[in-house]
Amino acid sequence: MNIHIALLPGDGIGPEVVAQAVKCLQAVEETFHHQFTYSTGLIGAASIYKTGEALSQETIALCHKSDAVLFGSIGALEFDNNPDAKVRPENGLFELRKELGVFANIRPVAVFPTLLKKSPLKEAVLKGTDFVIYRELTGGIYCGDHQLSDDGTTATDIATYTESDISRVAHLAFKASRKRKKKLTLIDKSNVLETSRLWRRVVKKISESYPDVALECIFLHNAIMQMILNPSKFDVILAPNLFGDIISDQASVIGGSVGLLPSASIGDGIAMFEPIHGSYPQAAGKDIANPIATILSTAMLLQHFGLEEESRAVVSAVNKSLHKNIVTPDINPKSKHGTSAVGDFIASNIVDTDESLSMNYENIGLGKSTII
Ligand code: IPM
Ligand code: MN
Repeated sequence: MNIHIALLPGDGIGPEVVAQAVKCLQAVEETFHHQFTYSTGLIGAASIYKTGEALSQETIALCHKSDAVLFGSIGALEFDNNPDAKVRPENGLFELRKELGVFANIRPVAVFPTLLKKSPLKEAVLKGTDFVIYRELTGGIYCGDHQLSDDGTTATDIATYTESDISRVAHLAFKASRKRKKKLTLIDKSNVLETSRLWRRVVKKISESYPDVALECIFLHNAIMQMILNPSKFDVILAPNLFGDIISDQASVIGGSVGLLPSASIGDGIAMFEPIHGSYPQAAGKDIANPIATILSTAMLLQHFGLEEESRAVVSAVNKSLHKNIVTPDINPKSKHGTSAVGDFIASNIVDTDESLSMNYENIGLGKSTII
């Protein structure tokens, strides 16, 4: 298959982790005989420094010419420390999500068996955890007006949701539940927010078309406690933009590191694949960032194009690196392996199961096997 991928490494550790993901995609190309082509664009602070804008027309055009986008991370300390900055790196990402119409951000959360013992949570609590968050990605408070009064003493952020914003992502979440444990949890603050009351009304109405899926609606403050006390109770979680952002970072504690969680942002057109973590500027250039979230995002990219076996090969190479302790210091503080070494290990372990089988046969035929 031919796939043209726009690479948007962004800021901080973004370029390093995207480079590892590309190594893995190249290994998939070679192993499974595909042709992936790449073009790289600027976004975020990297783009502001060169063009004055967080997202240029050039980058938008590059994405529209591609079949998929692989995004790294966004944000820089200089802007975090300056609330008065007129142009902010993060706006580049919000504009791009809008531009591509990727209204649903899918964030799977599962526990890697080899990391069960390393999680800050007890093994007994974690066992069986396997859920997926459907975060609404192009609406709500992220995308409303953000105002500061002229005298700088009053700030306003507007959250708006329409019925159709809610319904399109809700349908995707219900469909996903059907293929899983048939349970959907809507997270809201409908005791406080009008937008949340609309979410509840719309999602309850839609649930009538999915009678086989059990719908549960819970308040955000309750949900975040339950996610730590009893994470295996969740199957599919549906949440508005801001709540989805917050709960997915909390969910990353379950797996042991925010550096492990991938995501797919989908809509009606081109899909974008992005690790859930931020740009971790303190680690930039130090070869310590965990590339696994971005590598697993490429596994989601491959799955998006129906390349199931290829996607599984990436996931199993990641599992092997965790199993063999070829990991970055966020997983094992004593580890001597850097971002690039972990990327090399995973890329070199991407194998076609059919090929490995035929290699075994050849060994047997040549009398090399120690089994016979
Ligand atoms: C994410 C990130 C972004 C977001 C930041 C970097 C603006 O945290 O993708 O979850 O809040 O959406
Ligand atoms: Mn986030």
